[in-house]
Amino acid sequence: MTGFASDLTHSTYESPDIVALYARPDGLQKPEQTLLAQLGPALGTMDMLDIGVGGGRTTRHFAPHARTYLGIDYSAAMITRCKLEFPSFRFAVADVRRLEFAADESYDFVLFSYNGIDHLDRRERMMALTEMRRVLRAGGLMVFSSHNANYLPWIVDRFRFRVHASLRETLRSFKWSSVFWAKNGLLQYRMPLAAGRVHDGTHSFRSSALYYVRPDIGVAELRRLGMVDIACAGNESRDFLPGDDPRLERDSNPWIYYMSRKPGGA
Ligand SMILES: C[S@@+](CC[C@H](N)C(=O)[O-])C[C@H]1O[C@@H](n2cnc3c(N)ncnc32)[C@H](O)[C@@H]1O
Repeated sequence: MTGFASDLTHSTYESPDIVALYARPDGLQKPEQTLLAQLGPALGTMDMLDIGVGGGRTTRHFAPHARTYLGIDYSAAMITRCKLEFPSFRFAVADVRRLEFAADESYDFVLFSYNGIDHLDRRERMMALTEMRRVLRAGGLMVFSSHNANYLPWIVDRFRFRVHASLRETLRSFKWSSVFWAKNGLLQYRMPLAAGRVHDGTHSFRSSALYYVRPDIGVAELRRLGMVDIACAGNESRDFLPGDDPRLERDSNPWIYYMSRKPGGA
């Protein structure tokens, strides 16, 4: 697919080193553990679509329990790797911005884990969320995570130039600090940022800027999309808070899991 702001990220996700990175058998993040436990046996009644599946980190934990499972990714290399690693589950190359293969209301549970959605700019993000909602059945569950704009001061601090005891480390700090500020020149004037795109050094700056959003604004995006029962959990937390909890506005976890439902259903 071409013509999108985030296309340069696609080639990074096709590279062997990045495929190997996401193919490591890492465990579930804390909110994902809560989600899996909350779903329990109900997952066995659900058709699950795992978007941006990468090397299959979530496949290992969710797919064996779902009624049906399809993992998709726009990186053909990621999907090749998943097919090798998990031959008994289904995978396909597909882009979240156009889920053309999926009929309306054909899944019970749509997951886009580990901030993959943040590679999209605002317009593409809305396309993706609209597609994710379209393919969900009434009452279906949408879960994704997204970078937290409240965490940006820590990102800025990480790229502050520092003099180290070793010349090598000092030069390294100079290099990455220069790259960061060359790419995010106006960031200091945009802080505190409620929602916007930032080059945060992911994959050593080999991808496009990532969308950061304050949790309460992320919740408002979901409300505008018509989603209900919204709940959020910081990546370091096992507990989901209701979407209208005032603490969310100040939550400073690096990224936030958003859980919501399409209205209707039993
Ligand atoms: C940060 S990785 C996470 C991989 C995996 N979900 C995990 O948790 O380990 C993001 C994944 O989203 C995929 N991705 C990014 N944009 C996408 C898009 N527009 N459509 C489908 N997949 C996409 C990337 O190829 C990559 O595999």
